[in-house]
Amino acid sequence: MSERRRSPVHTVPDRPPPVYAPELLKGQKALVTGGNSGIGKATAIALGRSGADVVVNYVSDRPGAEAVVKEIEGFGVRTYAHQADVSQEDQVIDMVSAMIDRLGTIDIMVANAGLQRDAPTVEMTLKDWNKVIEVNLTGQFLCAREAIKEFQRRGVVPEVSRAAGKVICMSSVHQMIPWAGHVNYAASKGGVAMLMETLAQEFAPQRIRVNAIAPGAIRTPINRPAWETPEAREKLLELIPYGRIGDPQDIANAAVVLASDLCDYVVGTTFYVDGGMTLFPGFATGG
Ligand code: BGC
Repeated sequence: MSERRRSPVHTVPDRPPPVYAPELLKGQKALVTGGNSGIGKATAIALGRSGADVVVNYVSDRPGAEAVVKEIEGFGVRTYAHQADVSQEDQVIDMVSAMIDRLGTIDIMVANAGLQRDAPTVEMTLKDWNKVIEVNLTGQFLCAREAIKEFQRRGVVPEVSRAAGKVICMSSVHQMIPWAGHVNYAASKGGVAMLMETLAQEFAPQRIRVNAIAPGAIRTPINRPAWETPEAREKLLELIPYGRIGDPQDIANAAVVLASDLCDYVVGTTFYVDGGMTLFPGFATGG
């Protein structure tokens, strides 16, 4: 452990991130894919707390999604759970059209659903390669496409938002940090970066804002082995200059601000929320 990592500040217990709740999204309709757990769950709840109606998508964890819906109901907004596999075109089309039927429209699409199927490359099956690309990349394409069709149809409603609609792609620091043993995941997130920028370029003239959030190591079920034991945690912290593992609320807060008109001039940007993981901390003492 380097001198830097022993800094006294890192021995102070972390307080949870503050929750931002100024009704920034009042009257807007949001859909969060994979809203039943982890980053998606925190984001769905944060959007609801900020005044948006929220559709909580899930693929198999109905109880998880229902629990999120229950919590969002407490904010007095409309919300329901919708089962759909984001990698299936017909299911995504049905999900967005059901939302338009029930809530009237969509203003915010958070394309969050994602998974890992890790293996050394020479042992990685084509099935696991395809699965990760289909959910993490094709799923985001389908969700963005269906939301954008509705944004185009409806256009800007100035009382609701300065933009005709917002897409937030949930990416990862691995859209720029190569990740041995995770080639399918890293390739999918590299793809998300260019998907996001291309959509942003294509639709900005219609006042549609497409951006991404690139989380670092956030304490969620997807990376449980990386933070579960004290040894794993210590090793992970070496990659995080800020000295703490991220909380799903850190990402949810970024999503609320990015989706809101506070960020109306933010178009085609990746918002890294990673405690400095992308600063190549190894070079702080080497190189
Ligand atoms: C991955 C996590 C990982 C983090 C930092 C995320 O995108 O899903 O498993 O801990 O990146 O490496």
